[in-house]
Amino acid sequence: MLRAFAFASAAELVDQAARVAQAAPFRYLVTPGGFTMSVAMTNCGRVGWLSDRTGYRYDPLDPDSGTAWPVMPALFLDLAGRAAAEAGFPNYDPDACLINRYTAGAKLGLHQDSDEKDAWSPIVSVSLGLPAVFLWGGKRRGDPVRRLRLESGDVVVWGGPARFVYHGVAPLKDGQHALTGAARINLTFRKVF
Ligand code: SIN
Ligand code: FE2
Repeated sequence: MLRAFAFASAAELVDQAARVAQAAPFRYLVTPGGFTMSVAMTNCGRVGWLSDRTGYRYDPLDPDSGTAWPVMPALFLDLAGRAAAEAGFPNYDPDACLINRYTAGAKLGLHQDSDEKDAWSPIVSVSLGLPAVFLWGGKRRGDPVRRLRLESGDVVVWGGPARFVYHGVAPLKDGQHALTGAARINLTFRKVF
């Protein structure tokens, strides 16, 4: 956990995320089980994470536009690289950045990030805007879960032996934040291949 690691660049990160969302708008994906997710998502980078009735996958194209995902902003790459290095993972070169937008009530159930071929490189997760409660479990779904408050600018990095830890986000509380209004934006960087 790198508290406030992205605090100084938070406003610019939010700005860049909004630019990505102009080219590839946020959308509510459907799970393989047929449920619509409460978190709105988009992506930038060489590939983007997707879910639909056929499963989860990474795709070089945005299915809504049929074109490539927006290029990862230089600021994103720089921040993710510095955070990964600080956590002991030098030379991080993420292929994908999933951008999550939470509004009041939106949540992410406990899950593992396991759609990536690279099983060692870290996930780098950057919190922007409204605070959230991050759920941090263990390697088995039934393991005890810690609740960690994430504020705008906090960065969480998990890789190596912690790569497949179960994690999630508790339902977002209503609020207003100077950078994001009534939302929390989360960037999660992944090395997919
Ligand atoms: C995720 O697990 O993909 C997102 C975590 C977060 O929003 O903090
Ligand atoms: Fe995740």
